[in-house]
Amino acid sequence: MKDVYILAIETSCDETSIAIVKNGHECVCMNVLTQMDTHANFGGVVPEIASRMHTENITMVLDDVLAKSKMSLEDIDAIAVTYAPGLLGSLLVGVEFAKTLSFLYDKPLIAVNHIAGHIYANNLTSNLQFPLLALVVSGGHTDLLIMKKDYDFEVLGKTLDDAIGEAYDKVARVLDLKYPGGPNVEKLAKEGQNTYHLGYLHTNSYNVSYSGLKSSVINLVHNEKQRGNKINKNDLACSFQTAAVSELITIVKKAFKEQKVKNMLIAGGVSANSYLRKQMQSLCQEFNVNLSIPEFKYCTDNAAMIGAAAYPLYLKKEFANLDLNASSSTELF
Ligand code: KG4
Ligand code: ZN
Repeated sequence: MKDVYILAIETSCDETSIAIVKNGHECVCMNVLTQMDTHANFGGVVPEIASRMHTENITMVLDDVLAKSKMSLEDIDAIAVTYAPGLLGSLLVGVEFAKTLSFLYDKPLIAVNHIAGHIYANNLTSNLQFPLLALVVSGGHTDLLIMKKDYDFEVLGKTLDDAIGEAYDKVARVLDLKYPGGPNVEKLAKEGQNTYHLGYLHTNSYNVSYSGLKSSVINLVHNEKQRGNKINKNDLACSFQTAAVSELITIVKKAFKEQKVKNMLIAGGVSANSYLRKQMQSLCQEFNVNLSIPEFKYCTDNAAMIGAAAYPLYLKKEFANLDLNASSSTELF
């Protein structure tokens, strides 16, 4: 079969990213232009600024990818774009850009869900082996899914309130760490001990809850400040991380016992966390399950994962029309 080159576009949050992906498995070239430093001044992503920066930068990012890959748009077989979920204004920049390229160069358009992108990021490193258990952990999602085949998502559980990445970011804020908080909390946690006893909700199901854990950290910091006591930030970060990850371990263990899966993947920004990666590796070893984790550069938002997720849709000829619209909600499962 002829090689398939997909040009993929991702603008759902604060990264303007474009990649060329070959046969759904090989990233030929990728550019990820992050707006992180700009949003760090505000302590989080400012949607209006994000969409304006995507508009300013997207053509430059495309030119760079085409120049570095020494390819032209004529060499491309399809244009893929993240259409949901995410910040509406940001998504719209990518969607309109993709539709324009699709129309001008007469290439099929593929609408890709961002969460599917995170999952299929694993195809850039290994091969998705079905049936599998997928743990999606990002800034907006904490989902446990069973996949029996491509694009077949059965939800076992999800967060009842905050996503794990969101909890990391809020904890970072009360510890006066810079945005995005996750990697900074991880850095402190590496230097600390699990000494603080934090209260939170165990659901006894496949669901998790992070709002109680987050509030527990916020209240502790507040109370200690009022009493004039010093907080050991490293220990608090470590205690939070241990509790947050232990919730994931609990639901995955339950799934290993009840669902009898032999393959597992983790996906999403928080899958870059080395404590989580290590804990999942030893759990999978204990249950004799194959674990797939994306390479670091494919864990957080990037366009290569969108190209990987677009490939099964390309093979099925599931193409979008030029009336494709962006959507801020999930729409995947
Ligand atoms: O997948 P992603 O890049 O964007 C969304 O789709 O949400 O995930 C971003 C989230 C943020 O909450 C960020 O703090 C978290 O992933 N994150 C981490 C780490 N790297 C990114 N959380 C914990 N440890 C990390 N190393
Ligand atoms: Zn993401």
